[in-house]
Amino acid sequence: MKVAIGNDHAGFFLKDTVKEVLTARNIEILDLGCHSAESVHYPIYGEAVGRAVANGEADFGIVICGTGIGISIAANKVPGVRCGLCSEPLSAELTRQHNDANVLAMGARTIGPEMAKKIVETFLDTEFMGGKHATRVAMLDSIK
Ligand code: RB5
Repeated sequence: MKVAIGNDHAGFFLKDTVKEVLTARNIEILDLGCHSAESVHYPIYGEAVGRAVANGEADFGIVICGTGIGISIAANKVPGVRCGLCSEPLSAELTRQHNDANVLAMGARTIGPEMAKKIVETFLDTEFMGGKHATRVAMLDSIK
């Protein structure tokens, strides 16, 4: 499995925590930046991760900014991306089960590293339920 990661300056330090979880699972990481805490523009990194997931370069994406909101909006602008912003594990479980989310967004200013670990683990461990949810996901993907 390969996971693309993108973050802005506010998300830079939480990225290490995410990488620890992925590395412990031998998951390949595609780090699309940014690579320091110097101020940057989050749409660049949300789009980059969205495109990597949409074109099949990565199986999943994880995006991090201050709140997770701006970078999730950017990722969700890419057709084929279903990015869920999660601040606790139940949302991570449900966005995989019901929305077949292929990108996870988190806010480095709203959650701590331990919560982020649990969220990432739950996101990776949870399967899409299909059935009626597949109908709804197809409806999401048909919105242009
Ligand atoms: C950067 O200051 C901040 O605006 C950004 O990280 C994010 O929270 C935007 O949604």
